[in-house]
Amino acid sequence: MEQIIFRAMTRDDADEITALEAKCFAMPWSREDFWRETKNELAEYVVGELDGKIVAYAGAWVSFDQAEVMHVAVEPELRGQGVGTLIFGALIEAVKKRGAKSVTLEVRPSNTAAVKLYENFGLKSVGRRKGYYLDNGEDALIMWNTKL
Ligand SMILES: CC(C)(COP(=O)(O)OP(=O)(O)OC[C@H]1O[C@@H](n2cnc3c(N)ncnc32)[C@H](O)[C@@H]1OP(=O)(O)O)[C@@H](O)C(=O)NCCC(=O)NCCS
Repeated sequence: MEQIIFRAMTRDDADEITALEAKCFAMPWSREDFWRETKNELAEYVVGELDGKIVAYAGAWVSFDQAEVMHVAVEPELRGQGVGTLIFGALIEAVKKRGAKSVTLEVRPSNTAAVKLYENFGLKSVGRRKGYYLDNGEDALIMWNTKL
């Protein structure tokens, strides 16, 4: 997957990201949501491009020295080959450059691939939000790494 180019998200990416988002999440964000993110000064998003097509993206909001991850997604056919590790690594580097010293996120406990990915970056489960996900009432695991 060394052919993937990582770069910051731009406004022109909103359509492609929205299409990938719809393939990846039960409660996907809309095109307007992503378009708004391109104007959000707190938002930091990176995309991974393969042959000119966006195959991965990840985003976070950075407030003071804390980053809160909003999205991490990889094209379904390309999963399990390290792309998630690369895009999440690119996001962590980007938020560190903006001064983040800790990172937090919510994840479904049933999402073993995502939980493993985050643990590999030093995030630890510190609690749960009961019934957080509206589509099936699943709890969210709250994960943190306070030592970026
Ligand atoms: C979560 C996601 C981004 C991972 O992307 P990926 O490209 O498959 O990730 P990687 O190949 O880099 O694998 C990351 C780790 O997860 C593990 N993993 C990957 N798929 C797995 C699976 N199906 N079950 C268990 N572990 C898995 C890998 O082994 C790797 O750990 P290791 O390096 O210690 O072996 C991807 O599955 C995805 O887009 N899912 C849908 C969107 C989503 O759920 N995002 C997270 C929301 S919080």
